[in-house]
Amino acid sequence: MNKRKILVPLGDKSYEVTLEAGILNNISEELLKIGITKNRKILVISNEEISNLYGEKFLNNLKDNKFQAKMFLIKAGESYKNLKTLSEIYDVAFEFGLDRNSIIIALGGGIVGDVSGFAAATWLRGIEYIQIPTTLLSMVDSSVGGKTGVNHPKGKNLIGAFNQPKAVFIDPETLKSLPKREFSAGMAEVIKYGVIRDKELFEFLEIEKKQK
Ligand SMILES: NC(=O)c1ccc[n+]([C@@H]2O[C@H](COP(=O)([O-])OP(=O)(O)OC[C@H]3O[C@@H](n4cnc5c(N)ncnc54)[C@H](O)[C@@H]3O)[C@@H](O)[C@H]2O)c1
Repeated sequence: MNKRKILVPLGDKSYEVTLEAGILNNISEELLKIGITKNRKILVISNEEISNLYGEKFLNNLKDNKFQAKMFLIKAGESYKNLKTLSEIYDVAFEFGLDRNSIIIALGGGIVGDVSGFAAATWLRGIEYIQIPTTLLSMVDSSVGGKTGVNHPKGKNLIGAFNQPKAVFIDPETLKSLPKREFSAGMAEVIKYGVIRDKELFEFLEIEKKQK
């Protein structure tokens, strides 16, 4: 797959979604291109499942290129998208010395993305963050648009903020390891887009289905 870029036009908050197979292995180069210099600390937030698959390579790429990077793993699952997890991220941010010039990278699905984006919105009243979605749902939905937050015991997504990422990098290769159920959840969203506002997309999906 050749590199593709989609601009999210939001005036001074505009950012690009870059799609490329294998982009995860080249992340340092991409960061430098969008002005993330090596003196800026990077806190990568992920979970164990994703980290086992992609984390080490990702972090090594940053370290090999002399970025000051640290990875923090949150627990997987909706029940951990909460204030306790957020508080753990603040603790790590403090220990690591994340300052206003630092950056958070969310490497994972919608849960990692939502929590990380909200941590970035609130740490030191707001630092930059980057979304690297690894589920289909987070690629087509949650990584774009800037909705971030955590759940409250009384309800889902009750605490949050709008916070646009500085950039979104999508590596479709990561979909190869995604459980079928998670892929279907993302596809349901894609089909919905087709039904609501994109006849061409819907027809394309129908043809693809028939050919399988
Ligand atoms: N912010 C928004 O606009 C927005 C929009 C839609 C949904 N959401 C939120 O997104 C969350 C759901 O996100 P999700 O569907 O991505 O689920 P998720 O983040 O829970 O990920 C699903 C599972 O897949 C695993 N996983 C992730 N990437 C993988 C990969 N490449 N290979 C193998 N396993 C992988 C994860 O560890 C997890 O166990 C919900 O909390 C929802 O509220 C937010």
